[in-house]
Amino acid sequence: MSLRPLFPETRMRRLRYSKVVRDMVAETSLSADDLIMPLFVCPGEKVQNPIKSMPGNDQLSVDLLVEKCGELLEAGVRSVLLFGIPESKDEDGSVATHDHSIVQVAVRAIKAKYPKMFIIADICNCEYTTHGHCGTIVDGDVDNDQTLVTLSAQAVSLAKAGVDMVAPSDMMDGRVGHMRKALDENGYEKIPLMAYSAKYASGFYGPFRDAAESAPQFGDRSTYQMDIRNSDEALREVEMDIAEGADIVMVKPALSYLDVIYRVKHEFNVPVAAYNVSGEFSMIKAAAANDWIDGNRVMMEVMTSIKRAGADIIITYHAKDVAEILNGKK
Ligand code: PBG
Repeated sequence: MSLRPLFPETRMRRLRYSKVVRDMVAETSLSADDLIMPLFVCPGEKVQNPIKSMPGNDQLSVDLLVEKCGELLEAGVRSVLLFGIPESKDEDGSVATHDHSIVQVAVRAIKAKYPKMFIIADICNCEYTTHGHCGTIVDGDVDNDQTLVTLSAQAVSLAKAGVDMVAPSDMMDGRVGHMRKALDENGYEKIPLMAYSAKYASGFYGPFRDAAESAPQFGDRSTYQMDIRNSDEALREVEMDIAEGADIVMVKPALSYLDVIYRVKHEFNVPVAAYNVSGEFSMIKAAAANDWIDGNRVMMEVMTSIKRAGADIIITYHAKDVAEILNGKK
């Protein structure tokens, strides 16, 4: 009679045999409540321009955008992040600061039909300037302090239109404080601000620039977005944004910056959002279309990894699909 070997004494697999136990001891959970869906709104009526590099995403006119919000609510997605494609652009993005600007019109239309939809407005100039940069150009580069003025005007105008939260994505210095003050002075002290705090100069934004028609016409964004080699700098950006009044801080992109999400979450006591950007989305779609990966499985794995790293909120073009899977509709 042979003795059972004592080794291994610790059997990690004991907690893996039953799905009930696996679910019981899972350290990370994902919920549709964590998700924000980005949407692109364009002029016209009944316009649905498919974005080729982002399968399943479209530029939508206001009427169809409202319908889309109905579908999202149905799926369990309760929040959207809006980007505008305006009728015409100008030098400094002032086209985005008026009551009748495209996102303002969209916000009022969504709120009229679906008052419960939580609407976040991305605040930036790159979709609205002829040159595609995020601010006003002086001597061939974006002027920081002049840009603060148009950004804050855009935020106040969107708050007036009924937006529930503003999210500045321009990476100018001081924009959080400037915008917070402008909102407060205009009576919008209850509107939270989610800052794109650690936003990197990333190649993963490629498909978005097709979607929002916002590619810079000269140069790149490396004089204002963060250098991909840095993460101490991300902590400084986050610290400054919190000091200036940010309620939620964001790391963007997500997947190549999980270490940054982790550091931010452990260093600070504020909600952290992660933006699973266009290029991250499109890579999964392209590989799945070729049958190289199981698209839904990899999508859920990516979402879980972003939460495991420490994000509380995920902004993602997968939001509807993820919510449907989580809610058993898919
Ligand atoms: C605007 C903005 C960008 C994205 C979000 N807000 C583009 C950029 O900085 O060039 C990218 C989002 C994505 O790739 O999904 N500044």
